[in-house]
Amino acid sequence: MQKKRTIIISNRLPVRIEKRANELHFIPSEGGLATGLGSYYKTGSNIWVGWPGYIPENESEVQLIRTELAKLNLIPVFLSAEDLEGYYEGFSNEILWPICHYRLSYAVFDKSYWLAYQKVNQHFCDIILAQNITSKDELWVHDYQLMLLPQLLRQQRSDLTIGYFQHIPFPADEIFRCIPWRNELLKGLLGADLIAFHTYHDAQHFLNSCLNILGLSPKNNSVRCRDRRVHVEVFPMGIDFDKFEELSRSNVVLNKVQVLKEQYQKRKLILSIDRLDYSKGILERLMAYESLLQQYPELRNKVVLYMLVVPSRDNVAQYKLLRDEIDRMVGHINAVYGSDDWTPITYFYNSLPIEDLSALYVAADICLVTSLRDGMNLVCKEYIASKAQDHNGVLILSEFAGAAKELPETIQVNPNAIEDIMQAIPLAIYMPKMERQQRMRANVAMVKKFNITHWVKLFFNRLHEVKTEQKTSASR
Ligand code: G6P
Repeated sequence: MQKKRTIIISNRLPVRIEKRANELHFIPSEGGLATGLGSYYKTGSNIWVGWPGYIPENESEVQLIRTELAKLNLIPVFLSAEDLEGYYEGFSNEILWPICHYRLSYAVFDKSYWLAYQKVNQHFCDIILAQNITSKDELWVHDYQLMLLPQLLRQQRSDLTIGYFQHIPFPADEIFRCIPWRNELLKGLLGADLIAFHTYHDAQHFLNSCLNILGLSPKNNSVRCRDRRVHVEVFPMGIDFDKFEELSRSNVVLNKVQVLKEQYQKRKLILSIDRLDYSKGILERLMAYESLLQQYPELRNKVVLYMLVVPSRDNVAQYKLLRDEIDRMVGHINAVYGSDDWTPITYFYNSLPIEDLSALYVAADICLVTSLRDGMNLVCKEYIASKAQDHNGVLILSEFAGAAKELPETIQVNPNAIEDIMQAIPLAIYMPKMERQQRMRANVAMVKKFNITHWVKLFFNRLHEVKTEQKTSASR
C-alpha cells in the first residue's frame, strides 16, 4: 500500500538550471521556502513540482534535466518562451502582481495573458496528476502564479487534500474586482481545502471578495462551496533563524564584517536590500535619504546608505523603468552631496552570496525596509536573526509589510510619507543603546520562535485537521 506523500507545487522549483560553457548547472535556491520545505520534499517519495527556470534546447536536454532533477525529488514543468511571456511576465506579473500590490494603473488586462495563464495552470495540473497521486497525499500549492490550480485539480479529483498559500498580499475586494477574470480566480482558489495568507487583513480581503464578488457568505473564516467547507486562515511566514544566526557568528562572515567596518570607518551604515520591484518603495527611500542629507547637514559624511537591488523580472516594462529611475536618483544624490572622501550611497544591482548578505546584516547599524506593500518581507527578519549576538541594530519598517504586525518593537513608518521615513533615521541613529538592545531582543525572540519550521508544521497540521473535519462531517 502506498504511503502518504507530500507534493509541493510552486512556479519555481527550489533548484534553478543555468547553461554555462555548454554545460547545464543545477543551482539550489537559498530561499526560505526551499529551506523550510527541504525536510519534506527531500524525503521518501515526496516531490516538488515547478518550473526549473530554463528552456531546454532539445529533447536530450529535456531527458537529462528530468533524470537529474528526479534524483532530487523534483519534477520539472517545462515552459516555452511564449508560455512565460503570457503566463509569467504577463498575467502573473503585469496583472496579479500590480493588482495585489494596489498598483491598479500598472495592470495590463490583456486577454492573451489570461489564455496563457489558464493553459499553464492546466499544464501544471496534468503533470501533477500524472504522478500517481492518491487520496492520502497532501498537496501544497504556492502563490499567485497558480491561483487556478486548486480548482483544476479538484475538478478531476474531488478526494484530494489541497492547501494553498499566497505569499503576496490579497488586496481589498474593490481592487480585486477590477480584474476581468476575478470570478474564475476566486473559484480557482476555492478548489483548495485550506487557503492561507500571511496576515489577518489579507484573509479578510479574500473573504470579502468571496462575499461581494461571488456572493458566498463566509462563516467563521470559512466559505461553503457545494459540499465542502473551505477554510481561510493566517500563517505568518518565518525564516530559517538558525541559519542566519549561525552565519552571523561564523569566521567567514566576521572577517567580511571587519572589511566593511574598515571601509566605512565610524560612519553609520544604513542597509537597504530588495529585489528590484516598485512594491518595495525604493524610490521613496532614496527621496527620504536625500531629504535627510538636506535637513541634517551634520549627518553628511557620517552616514552611508548601502543599497543592494537584486535583479528581477527585467522583461517587464515597469521594472525596466524603475531600474533607470533608481540609477538616476543614486547618481544625482552621489553627485550633489558626495565629497572627495565620502560617497553617500553605495549601490549594487546584483545578487550576493549569503555570506556577504550576512556580513551586511551584521555590520549595518540600521536596516531600512520601506515597502509600499509587501506580503511579509523576509529581509527584515533576516536582519533581526543576524543581530541575535549583540542586539545592536535598529529596524525601520514599513507598516505596509506583513511583518509589521509581528514586530511592534521596530520603528514603523508610513512609506508614502517621505518625511516620516526621513525622521526615523536620526531617531534610529541617536536611540540610546539600552533601548536599541531591548527592542532588538524582543524582535529576535519573535523571529526565533516563529521560524520557518514552525510555519510549515503549523500549516500541515491545520491542513490535516481541516481534512479530518471534512471527512467527519461528510460521514455524519
Ligand atoms: C515573491 C513571490 C514569489 C516569487 C518571488 C521572486 O516573493 O511571492 O512567488 O517567486 O517574488 O520572483 P520571481 O518572479 O523571480 O519568481
